[in-house]
Amino acid sequence: MNLLERDHCLDQLSELLSMARTGHGRTVLISGEAGVGKSVLVEHFVSQQDSTVRQLWGACEALYTPRPLGPLYDIASQTQSSLLTLMSGHTERATLFSVLLDDLRQSPLPTIMVFEDVHWADEATLDLIKFLGRRIPQFPVLFLITYRDTELGFDHPLWSVIGDLPGHALARLMLSPFLSKPSGVWRTLPIEPPKDSMLRLLETPSLSPKFSPATQETSP
Ligand SMILES: Nc1ncnc2c1ncn2[C@@H]1O[C@H](COP(=O)(O)OP(=O)(O)O)[C@@H](O)[C@H]1O
Ligand SMILES: [Mg+2]
Repeated sequence: MNLLERDHCLDQLSELLSMARTGHGRTVLISGEAGVGKSVLVEHFVSQQDSTVRQLWGACEALYTPRPLGPLYDIASQTQSSLLTLMSGHTERATLFSVLLDDLRQSPLPTIMVFEDVHWADEATLDLIKFLGRRIPQFPVLFLITYRDTELGFDHPLWSVIGDLPGHALARLMLSPFLSKPSGVWRTLPIEPPKDSMLRLLETPSLSPKFSPATQETSP
């Protein structure tokens, strides 16, 4: 798909990956509301990489009974390590975390590791994020974490996990809605694209009719 208006984010991610390649791992917090484009940004960035980078993907889900360590299970089946076997037994969490860390350290290729939607993470996954985030600055890893900040209460435990990550190895990408929406009114007007706040104003239902003729002219 054609990713719009995220060149700056892609550039930043590329820079962070360059650092990770040299053994200076980085954690990137990619936040924004549902549908803002967190997943497509990460997918696009990862798809741009060649075979000199390994990728590991894990995701949290909005289950009624959260799956403990869901992302670690996802990742276990993508590595060559003993993780999957260990996870099917009664292995202690500390051991599982260490096995993943060893895998990241010993991988012949630098790794992009993605944890998606951690606003739904169970407590064990939050512990894993803290464990990894505090150690990967010494490893060739780019750790991409996506979450909906709009759905986190001020007392959500993710904030404390983030607060414990080493600042020098942490980057934040706070995504705002992209302006080039296919139905975006601004494209049809002979003015500069409005700022976010103006776009919201134009999209207010009570104001939209004023602009609707122009919208209809150019909508696909
Ligand atoms: N930068 C973008 N360029 C083009 N389409 C986008 C962009 N960001 C989001 N979208 C559209 O919005 C949809 C939702 O994006 P997604 O990445 O799934 O959101 P999120 O992960 O933040 O919930 C995508 O499938 C895509 O159609
Ligand atoms: Mg998503």
